[in-house]
Amino acid sequence: MSDEFIGFNVFISGSGKGLGRSTSIHLAKRGARVGVSDIDGEACDETIRLIREGGGEAYGFICDLSDRAAFHHAVGEFARKVGPLDAMINNASILRYEPIENVTPETLDLMLGGGLKTVMWGTQALLAHMNPEKGASIINYASPVSYRGYPNTAVYSAVKGAVLSLTRVMAAELGPRGVRVNAVAPGSVPTPGATAYVGIEEYDRRAQSIPLRRLGRDEDNAAAVAFLLSRDATFINGAVLNVDGGIVAAG
Ligand SMILES: NC(=O)c1ccc[n+]([C@@H]2O[C@H](COP(=O)([O-])OP(=O)(O)OC[C@H]3O[C@@H](n4cnc5c(N)ncnc54)[C@H](O)[C@@H]3O)[C@@H](O)[C@H]2O)c1
Repeated sequence: MSDEFIGFNVFISGSGKGLGRSTSIHLAKRGARVGVSDIDGEACDETIRLIREGGGEAYGFICDLSDRAAFHHAVGEFARKVGPLDAMINNASILRYEPIENVTPETLDLMLGGGLKTVMWGTQALLAHMNPEKGASIINYASPVSYRGYPNTAVYSAVKGAVLSLTRVMAAELGPRGVRVNAVAPGSVPTPGATAYVGIEEYDRRAQSIPLRRLGRDEDNAAAVAFLLSRDATFINGAVLNVDGGIVAAG
């Protein structure tokens, strides 16, 4: 276990599975105390188990983070255990691909809740539980769809476009308070959420067309998040780091 993030308190939304889980484990291995939170209780417990098995420190909060009161309560409890927060990682989101005419009010509410409200409530919760003298950091999860029009991704793309806008607004609004706000935009990582919609053949096709000729990996994104949170990034604010092997650049 390295010690770069010893004494660093980070809360990660949607960290029961996928990139949230791997980033939690990565930061805990480097010394951070991690608040793990997910609507999926079993997945949340498993992330906690994996972190503790590796000698890390983590606390679990099973709740629907689209609920403002629930998010604030979870972060308040985490801060009560570990002290003021140093970072919030707004990772939770719900992936669903479908033609525009199939989008129902339920889908829209669910995806706006899981992918957009969580970013707003996570940011508010950080502001309420950080040390204003010390400052803090926020990482939002954008996507290649934030920049381009991919058919059948209307709600997901709208959510990720909004996350990109919010990153810029928050960087401008919160920078003067010592809060850096950046985003990572992962490309094609076969996580549980993604593989429910993207099959093996499509992943093979993508791996051939991505400039670096491979899919994204959990560790690519965890390392990018760790860099943006680190002492090496203290003047980086409002940036979006494309962790995508060149997908966005190639178009
Ligand atoms: N996997 C990729 O290729 C990819 C590409 C671009 C962007 N991203 C982004 O990266 C982030 C992580 O993606 P992933 O692929 O690991 O997703 P995932 O679906 O595998 O995991 C997301 C987690 O968020 C949780 N969650 C969703 N709504 C919640 C809510 N309301 N309250 C609490 N927890 C909730 C889910 O239960 C799940 O455990 C997301 O923001 C996603 O949009 C992923």
